[in-house]
Amino acid sequence: MTADTPQPRHFAPRGPLTGRIRVPGDKSISHRALMFSALAVGRSRISGLLEGEDVLATAAALRAMGATVERNGEDWIVDGVGVGGFLQPQGALEMGNSGTSTRLFLGLLASQGITAVLTGDASLSKRPMGRVIDPLSEMGARFEPSPGGTLPLLIEGMEPAVPITYRLPVASAQVKSAVLLAGLNTPGITTVIEPVPTRDHTERMLAGFGAQLDTGEEDGERVVRIHGPADLKPCNVTVPGDPSSAAFFAVAASIVPGSDLVIENVGLNPTRAGIFTVLRQMGADIEELDARDVGGEPVADLRVRHAALSGVEVDPAIAPSMIDEFPVLFVAATLAEGTTVTTGLDELRVKESDRLAAMAAALAEAGAKVKEMPDGLVIHGSGGKPLRGTTDTAVATHLDHRIAMSMAVAGLASSNGVEIDDVRPIATSFPGFAALLYGASA
Ligand code: S3P
Repeated sequence: MTADTPQPRHFAPRGPLTGRIRVPGDKSISHRALMFSALAVGRSRISGLLEGEDVLATAAALRAMGATVERNGEDWIVDGVGVGGFLQPQGALEMGNSGTSTRLFLGLLASQGITAVLTGDASLSKRPMGRVIDPLSEMGARFEPSPGGTLPLLIEGMEPAVPITYRLPVASAQVKSAVLLAGLNTPGITTVIEPVPTRDHTERMLAGFGAQLDTGEEDGERVVRIHGPADLKPCNVTVPGDPSSAAFFAVAASIVPGSDLVIENVGLNPTRAGIFTVLRQMGADIEELDARDVGGEPVADLRVRHAALSGVEVDPAIAPSMIDEFPVLFVAATLAEGTTVTTGLDELRVKESDRLAAMAAALAEAGAKVKEMPDGLVIHGSGGKPLRGTTDTAVATHLDHRIAMSMAVAGLASSNGVEIDDVRPIATSFPGFAALLYGASA
């Protein structure tokens, strides 16, 4: 993060959101575009890359292992080293706040004869790495994590690694991707079985880079097989706008009366678009305009108009397709008529913060009626009446960008506004968020 001390900020109530905006590139796709370009032999060009701190941590780690990663005008150019071609990094790989960088790099390193130490900030250093250590150890890598299976962590890759068949015990695209990436440099077929499908950017993009990859359904489960060692060819990648970032604006426009906002170029991959489905179930007015394909991903412009929302019971089966959007959904629920019930969200407790506890506390601080359950929140909405907002105490964001942005959106639809203890983490995924929010609202 740019500054060493917390940066509090007050998000005041605002008038309608109108006009046209564009959110930055998709974070998940940006990490993968850099990593796969670095594994191709030759030069790839990436446009629309998210220049957030998490993605820049990925870029820096790739440079430390021999790839050339440079900004060139609006694009990024990557000269790759080839699968199996990473160099031994000289110092620790700094992962900052980024769980995606960490877990995907552990996959990449597991099948290369490299020893590396990965470090992270206070939030990342609490997050569980056992979920990737387990399958990658089966493939032959050796790990020395900190107590509790956390960072700082040393990994010693195994070359050649052993191909495995791994059924995911938790619905996690990061774990799936870590195993598939380890499979890239592993002779034979590495298989991942997903009882519950998660975001599929790794599969889509690896196929685009020329990896031999089979995906299908067997006995109601998603099965992905990667043939190694793979040979990746350089690509031109266009990164669509991040639906997770667009979600803050979709909720803001839905809850602030008089809003009529177009969010351009939003990625709508079905494994990511659950938030828009649930908002529509609540009565949100979200129209898809100019549906098209961008870089192998479905994309549209979203026109969002203010609407009266009703509480819903959210089907836990939709959770993986909106796993990062629950904090802002909880904000929408506080303004809805009636009660919103969410369940099956244990995974939210191991994100950048414990998002169930953090959002329950933050929303209560802002005057909402919210009850924290072991695996979800129950929220009694105000029926469109603005939230009170904070009084003396700022909401605690626990180094979590999505808590900060969600509560900023809550501030727009409140009487007092919402004071946030620290906005620095927003730069991990959405540089320019506050300026865009204030520019779009009156
Ligand atoms: C991501 C997967 C999700 C998500 C994270 C990005 C990815 O994490 O929460 O923000 O890019 O693969 P999990 O795999 O832990 O669910």
